[in-house]
Amino acid sequence: MDSIKNDYFKREKQVFFQVYKRLPIVVESAVGCYIYDKNGEKYLDFLSGIAVNALGHSHPDIIEVAIDQIKKYMHISNYFYQEPQIRLAEKLTRITGYNRVFFSNSGTEATEGALKLIRRWGNKNGKKEIIAFSGGFHGRTYGALSLMDKPKYKDGMGPFLPDIKIIEYNNIRTLEENVNENTTAVVLEFIQGEGGIVEAKTDFINQIKLLKEKYNFLILDDEIQTGLGRTGKMFAYEHYNIKPDIVITAKALGGGFPLGAILSNDELANYWGIGTHGTTYGGNSVACACGSVVIDYLINGVLQKVKENGDYLKSELIKIMEKYPKLILQLRGKGLIQGLLLSFNGAILVEKLLKRKVISNYCSENVLRIIPPLIVERSDIDIFINSLDECLSQL
Ligand SMILES: Cc1ncc(COP(=O)(O)O)c(C=O)c1O
Repeated sequence: MDSIKNDYFKREKQVFFQVYKRLPIVVESAVGCYIYDKNGEKYLDFLSGIAVNALGHSHPDIIEVAIDQIKKYMHISNYFYQEPQIRLAEKLTRITGYNRVFFSNSGTEATEGALKLIRRWGNKNGKKEIIAFSGGFHGRTYGALSLMDKPKYKDGMGPFLPDIKIIEYNNIRTLEENVNENTTAVVLEFIQGEGGIVEAKTDFINQIKLLKEKYNFLILDDEIQTGLGRTGKMFAYEHYNIKPDIVITAKALGGGFPLGAILSNDELANYWGIGTHGTTYGGNSVACACGSVVIDYLINGVLQKVKENGDYLKSELIKIMEKYPKLILQLRGKGLIQGLLLSFNGAILVEKLLKRKVISNYCSENVLRIIPPLIVERSDIDIFINSLDECLSQL
């Protein structure tokens, strides 16, 4: 059987840019919280397509809605009025209170669009500098990379956008020293995902809010990973006493299809007019139709379940942390985005879990990132915790 796998590994190596560190699994199918490989092996998926498959894999309603939409039309372009797009935008505005939406294909494109909107606002209001934070992740395109500091994403690929300053996350003093009348926007994740599941401190956010009142800048909230229920609230900013000016989201939004969104109010959206921004594919009809299914499920029970199962996961992880204090240094995160800060490289644990048919992930070298589908059951969490316990007992 391994010869089948090896053949895929070989073929992949021959034809792809070698930029992905793939797991040694050749996927045949995926249902709910499980992935099945070509050898018929079943894996518990606690990565969920990197926080994309909120309703799990192959959700029957997503499949039905996608097929229905495909039969009507797939791509038609943004020259036309389309029911699936308008319906999803209406749902998004209803659940967020923002009244304008722009659809992109991906997270990084949402970042780029938001940056353009910020620049346009800044140029009209005599402000130039954008502040972003260490450890942040906003995508792989140039604007997004310009907001990030980690060399692993940027090395040798400059120059990047000017007038962006990256300062230490959660450091109030540095924030005060760097924000001023010239600040156009502060860009942040309320929980840094790729950065290692690092939560913004309440005092830090309160200070951003105070400085905004003093200097009048925009707050761009990157909810590409944390948005749409992942943290137990619809958006991570709702855990704080703040309303960002712009929210960008993606990942879970398209129910597995590529889709991102920029959300803001019309006062800001009006800084763009016809032709100032656009996309050929963004807001694809099938992706938008499926996005409405995701939102409906979130509202009708899934969000509540994330809260309950997130609390359960946390209580079980605390027990594990107490059992292995030398191996686990900290538990981080909210809802169904949690992380264990390890005293060793995360790759070791991911590999061990995989041997037990559990798919997990690590970020920032030594943080085990736990991001199961939002429809995960307690029984799945128990399997994960037991496997984790077994793996840690061997280290
Ligand atoms: C917070 C955040 N922003 C932006 C992105 C980029 O999204 P995409 O990969 O869809 O371009 C990601 C992806 O991991 C992310 O987690």
